[in-house]
Amino acid sequence: MKLGLLEAAVLTAASVANAQDDLAYSPPYYPSPWSTGQGEWAEAYNRAVEIVSQMTLDEKVNLTSGTGWQLERCVGQTGSVPRLGVGSLCLQDSPLGIRFSDYNSAFPAGVNVAATWDRQLAYLRGQAMGEEFSDKGIDVLLGPVAGPLGRHPDGGRNWEGFAPDPVLSGVLFAESIKGIQDAGVIATAKHYLVNEQEHFRQIPDAIAFGYNISDALSENVDDKTLHELYLWPFADAVRAGVGAVMCSYQQINNSYGCQNSHLLNKLLKAELGYQGFVMSDWQATHSGVGAALAGMDMTMPGDTLFNTGASFFGGNLTIGVLNGTIPQWRVDDMAVRIMAAFYKVGRDKLYTPPNFSSWTREEKGFDHFVVSEGDYVTVNEFVDVQRDHASVIRRIGADSIVLLKNEGSLPLNGKERNVAVLGDDAGSNPWGANGCDDRGCAQGTLAMGWGSGTAEYPYLITPEQAIQQEVLKGRGSVFAVTDNWALDKIEATAARSTVSLVFVNAGAGEGYIEVDGNEGDRKNLTLWKNGDNVIKATASNCNNTIVVIHSVGPVLVDQFHDHPNVTAILWAGLPGQESGNSIADVLYGRVNPGGKTPFTWGKSRAAYGAPLVDEPNRGTGPPQTDHTEGIFIDYRHFDKTNQTPIYEFGYGLSYTNFKYSSLTVQRLNASEYVPTTGQTRAAPTFGSISDAASYLFPEGLKKITEFIYPWINSTDLEASSGDANYGWEHSKYIPEGARDGSPQDLLPSSGGAGGNPRLYDELFRITATIRNTGSVYGSEVPQLYVSLGGPNEPKVVLRGFDKLDLQAGEERVWSATLTRRDLSNWDVEQDDWVITPYPKRVFVGSSSRKLSLKASLPTVQ
Ligand code: BGC
Ligand code: BGC
Repeated sequence: MKLGLLEAAVLTAASVANAQDDLAYSPPYYPSPWSTGQGEWAEAYNRAVEIVSQMTLDEKVNLTSGTGWQLERCVGQTGSVPRLGVGSLCLQDSPLGIRFSDYNSAFPAGVNVAATWDRQLAYLRGQAMGEEFSDKGIDVLLGPVAGPLGRHPDGGRNWEGFAPDPVLSGVLFAESIKGIQDAGVIATAKHYLVNEQEHFRQIPDAIAFGYNISDALSENVDDKTLHELYLWPFADAVRAGVGAVMCSYQQINNSYGCQNSHLLNKLLKAELGYQGFVMSDWQATHSGVGAALAGMDMTMPGDTLFNTGASFFGGNLTIGVLNGTIPQWRVDDMAVRIMAAFYKVGRDKLYTPPNFSSWTREEKGFDHFVVSEGDYVTVNEFVDVQRDHASVIRRIGADSIVLLKNEGSLPLNGKERNVAVLGDDAGSNPWGANGCDDRGCAQGTLAMGWGSGTAEYPYLITPEQAIQQEVLKGRGSVFAVTDNWALDKIEATAARSTVSLVFVNAGAGEGYIEVDGNEGDRKNLTLWKNGDNVIKATASNCNNTIVVIHSVGPVLVDQFHDHPNVTAILWAGLPGQESGNSIADVLYGRVNPGGKTPFTWGKSRAAYGAPLVDEPNRGTGPPQTDHTEGIFIDYRHFDKTNQTPIYEFGYGLSYTNFKYSSLTVQRLNASEYVPTTGQTRAAPTFGSISDAASYLFPEGLKKITEFIYPWINSTDLEASSGDANYGWEHSKYIPEGARDGSPQDLLPSSGGAGGNPRLYDELFRITATIRNTGSVYGSEVPQLYVSLGGPNEPKVVLRGFDKLDLQAGEERVWSATLTRRDLSNWDVEQDDWVITPYPKRVFVGSSSRKLSLKASLPTVQ
């Protein structure tokens, strides 16, 4: 086992390799910015400083270090400071509900929230989840997700996040964070950054699948692409006041996410002014000193690899401070950031230890599960935390449905005499809704992906169950065939039906689970389990075939979308526990579909560009993936390469029609951009450090096997570190400037939460009139796009949207504003945002390609 207390960020294998060949390189940035309590953090910061000032070094270290995998009840738990009444913090998955629990709700996935384009629903879902987490005694919710953003349509975890557009993602990311934190739970913006694919994200998964590589994948990205695409939603998260950020497994420009000083010190803390804490992804820490100096504040789940009993932090962080490799101010800053987040969301008022165990559903168990040590106590109290959240789940499920095609067969009127419900995706998992660990299988209707981004279902309403109820109300007959290989039965049933509802799906998930050859990432974009043939068998026998797709992202619909007997196609995403009710609401017209597809539906996988790296491409060295496409992903790529997709980003039909007219552009009074200048104050320290002997493992305390403690074993620090075998000398390497606590120059792009406050000045107001020209109530999502001009820019980029509810015949003037950030490009030379001199235009319409209103923007500086 490698205890790389020694490895510094700039000395990772890959950056050493950089000297030998031309690998992408991540420039160092030190020292790690200390928090200031700026803006809305002031009060929480002051309280954090007050309590941290009373802590001893080992107490501070305890806050920064997880206690080890499965040692306590949550997927991650920190040490505590009982002397000052600070309990262990419980960190728990997932972005769509509580993982490894009971009597909790299973919410729609992030990709469905994106399809609603509805800020309010994003907020309400976040708040509802926050309430459930809080009631179970969870302090930190490990979500939401904006990394992956969706560079690859086949990326395994895209569905946990929102959309491959930074603005749509950023807005919903921020609303989710506000909802969660308003309920008194710390939200975690993850995975920071460019965590775009599952293959080779970390060594343990790769080894399990039989690959032999020395280091994780490196996502090689230039600074313009980082700022304009991948970092953008995280700026929104910081502006929303997020308390935690999770650094990612893989490397960025050949430096690991959790020790990448450019990403953590410079972009997140110096530029965006982030005041909360950075926690590692699970086993994503690769060094102690290196990670600490590069800006990581908490290691999770605490041990180096699961259950090694050793940590890069814990006692080794104590040693790092005692021997001077890590300045005291850095550890003080870690502790202040953690406590500030705790106070900021009001967790101190709600704190209660977890009342459930992630590792067993039995009532009783050992305090320390994995080692069966400690007291044998009640570990599960079976607290029902669901409230009436089923209603918001059902609503998001319905509001996220995208009507892709409708030749008039929808809505159904409930009087259909003979209804066929076809496909495995219509029915139940024969093993039960939670029958597969972390939802890692493909049986029955798909309502979430697989991996850590899941929750246990309390129940799962299937399409078959919900549709059967509808048909029975109208006294019709209904027959379901859910065996996808019984094509003859499907044909016969379809042939006898007046309407055939075919359910198909395609799943994906996290890279430690493989389902049918899909190692997290999808191996192709085709429908699963014979889906295309199920549709064809139905459509050749029934001239009213309606296709419903449950999928993690785009699938290939080229084989059936223009079949004359396929009269309607709906995408329902991953709707969570109320799946069947949500789809029935739309099929039977109780809800007029208003979802818009949050990604492009291409004709083939190749049409998207940016292939996944699914084979090691550097021998046993770290695989490399170069972002040669820059900011051109999803619709920007289709526009650039002049390809017509089947359904474009932002597209979705309704049971009514909308008309767009009267675009206006109004210049607002905004002052000029002022790059920030000046310096920070010097790094503050809180409390003092004693001699090594004060941090020895307390006499008489019974050691729990594998548990991570903050204490040292001997005052001989080298011996205590366990680093002896790895070259103590080597560990003396400290990146230049990393220990410098003197005042530092401020970055021009910095100054407030999310960067220079002037970036958020509003420069223009755009208005347009939208009219419901049909005969039924419905909702529409007007979309504002901008062309920034210049030779290397996308044709258009999304900059604004809203969800409008309009009665039949109603007309509304919609208005949206454009900020300076919306009109700027990242200038790598100036290391700042600039508005280029190129002429800029605005467009408003109902999708990325239906932009009927356009205008030029007056020149701006
Ligand atoms: C995932 C995270 C998750 C963590 C804890 C990791 O493997 O990438 O998203 O929060 O495990 O389960
Ligand atoms: C855990 C996940 C974690 C993954 C990391 C799994 O065993 O259940 O929480 O994301 O390991 O590889």
